[in-house]
Amino acid sequence: MSIEYIKEKKVFILNTKKSSYQIKVDETGALRHLYYGRPVGSSDMDYRYKKTDRGFSGNPYEQAADRGCSFDTMPLEYSGFGVGDYRVSPLKVRLKNGSRSVDPRYVSHKMYKGKYILEGLPYVRENDSKAESLEVRLKDETAGLSFILSYGVFEEFNVITRTVKIVNDSDENVELEKASSMCIDMPFGNYDLIHFSGRHCMERRPERDILSQETITLSSKRGMSSHHSNPFVILCDRNANEDNGDCYGFMLMYSGNHKEEIEKDQTGSVRVIMGINDEGFSWKLEKGETFQTPETILTYSYEGFNELSHTFHKTIRKNVCDKKYIDMVRPVLINSWEAAYFDFDEEKIYGLAESAKELGVEMFVLDDGWFGKRNNDSCGLGDWFVNEDKLKGGLKKLVDRINTLGLKFGIWIEPEMISEDSDLYRAHPDWALTDPDRKPMVARDQLVIDMSRQDVRDYLFESISGLLNKANIEYIKWDFNRSVSNFYSKLLPPDRQGEVAHRFVLGTYELLDRLEKAFPKVMIEGCAGGGGRFDAGMLFYCPQIWCSDNTDPIARLSIQKGTSYGYPVSSMGSHVSVSPNHQTNRSTPFNTRGLVAMSGTFGYELDPGKLSEEEKKAIGKQIRDFHKYYELIQKGDYYRISEESFSNHYFAWEFVSEDKSEALMNIAAVNVEVNSAFPFIKFRGLKEDSFYRVEELGLKLTGGALMYGGLSLDILRGDYPALQLYIKEDK
Ligand code: GLA
Repeated sequence: MSIEYIKEKKVFILNTKKSSYQIKVDETGALRHLYYGRPVGSSDMDYRYKKTDRGFSGNPYEQAADRGCSFDTMPLEYSGFGVGDYRVSPLKVRLKNGSRSVDPRYVSHKMYKGKYILEGLPYVRENDSKAESLEVRLKDETAGLSFILSYGVFEEFNVITRTVKIVNDSDENVELEKASSMCIDMPFGNYDLIHFSGRHCMERRPERDILSQETITLSSKRGMSSHHSNPFVILCDRNANEDNGDCYGFMLMYSGNHKEEIEKDQTGSVRVIMGINDEGFSWKLEKGETFQTPETILTYSYEGFNELSHTFHKTIRKNVCDKKYIDMVRPVLINSWEAAYFDFDEEKIYGLAESAKELGVEMFVLDDGWFGKRNNDSCGLGDWFVNEDKLKGGLKKLVDRINTLGLKFGIWIEPEMISEDSDLYRAHPDWALTDPDRKPMVARDQLVIDMSRQDVRDYLFESISGLLNKANIEYIKWDFNRSVSNFYSKLLPPDRQGEVAHRFVLGTYELLDRLEKAFPKVMIEGCAGGGGRFDAGMLFYCPQIWCSDNTDPIARLSIQKGTSYGYPVSSMGSHVSVSPNHQTNRSTPFNTRGLVAMSGTFGYELDPGKLSEEEKKAIGKQIRDFHKYYELIQKGDYYRISEESFSNHYFAWEFVSEDKSEALMNIAAVNVEVNSAFPFIKFRGLKEDSFYRVEELGLKLTGGALMYGGLSLDILRGDYPALQLYIKEDK
């Protein structure tokens, strides 16, 4: 049983293979957090909690005699506001009478087999895993608000999901001003916080902060999860590293404005809150209505960050992405963007496809510039019909020709945007998000279309369906190239304008869902100026996301490494581009570019016609290697190798097959030194006693030797060299 209830103690135990999670209804009716960590069986962990009368931490009225009983110091599962808990709150409400107070207390619960699902929002699917669910209903009788806390427990995966549904049971309208998805208080521990911040072209750079008595807030209000702050954090022991130590991962499945608050309080307890960003948010909840918050994914590892990442990787690959992508071999693609930008016609596109086919590429993707009057980035968005001046004879003709070569065809669109210089905007200026009487903020010369509107979504569905019905398009690159501003919808009344940012995201999800149902064979790759919307919410609809607009392999080493803490290789769009690189102007060897791109969904972003014969040959080998190692790379366990001896000079990462019979070690030098130490690599995740053959070096060694003794490799020389070592069990 993954979920147990000890009735006499009112304790809920959520068990996974490698963790226990406990909560309890106490004498006040508050839902207290008791424990999250290594399995503890069915011991009631409440014994650890010491009530203490701390100054300035008041008591609930009915417990006035017990001065140690305070919401301010209790570890809670979902705290209220204005009733004695002075820590950061997951909730803010405004009642009809003006009161802001809210005080959720236990009413009832239910437990059932199977995983709950969410309507209109992404969630972790049950698929072939066994899951159980727990729903705990809390209520504030005075406010007439109920809070249904749902927990999904995936025992095999060591994953717990959480979400909250808020129900207005009162006779009045209530204004929600903050509605977080989860709150958890971790009472003991000396934690560091790791978060994944960055910027355009340099996404998800891990930063590690020592927590002191303070609140750290991470957030996005850009209308997207953003390049700047990923909705994913790790809380870990001060000594935790890649291979050892306690760590907790918290990931929000949401693609819009989000907020993570991490507060260490006066008692040393750490609170984590995650959910929709409350800045600019409000939601009018009418009598009887409900508000569903996005889902969060939680996992715990006592074996360091690599193990934590393995859990997220498996969960996302098998239970977040659509089931059909679990075993689908993704095509090696070539994308036209860096090869042609806006400058092409049908012959140039056909020529690119033809030369790519000769090298073994499997799909051609026509990027930006094929529609409306889109000859540069200042016009055309919204006009999702082909520009026949550029592509004479239309899309179908081009797609058929490319299909005849034996290549699949994919296309770029940016549905959530509208250019002022477009037929669509001229016909529907009110479809753009703009404030009344105010000039909107523009970015890349474009405005954002109002995805909260049904008519807008219908238009987009019709025009995208039109494209997909007209030609044999098997893939879409779905872009989103600016931060959103001027969140104002012409269709909503003034007192509902705080809903626009969230309704926007719901609108995008609805459109993606509708398209997926109508065109189940078309795969969508997410993109937002690279990795500006790289989150588990988008991965529910798109199994892969363009990881960054930065295609420089050396920059990609850290971008992909940062991304790997939460997201699997099978989700990271990664391509080989030309050297010198278009973003950094850095020159790198072809081999290094291939090896880095191969640790992603793999493809090319260059004009094959301009390559040397040697480079063309290299492409053939890269594609063969990618296929050879496909299962290992896409489905194996991914280890970040972080030996202190070389971390300033090398990046290394390894894939190990599930049965541990083979592994692929990758190593790239970023800072070659003269007369330096040897790169000294220790494998991870092998079978200690089995022998493995290291073909490349002519060695046969036990897993133990490779893991604990390690290999000292030849010093890598030159500009950014890289190498791959394949090992296979040899009995
Ligand atoms: C974004 C994407 C690029 C490319 C351009 C086209 O920046 O990330 O890969 O598609 O848009 O405008």
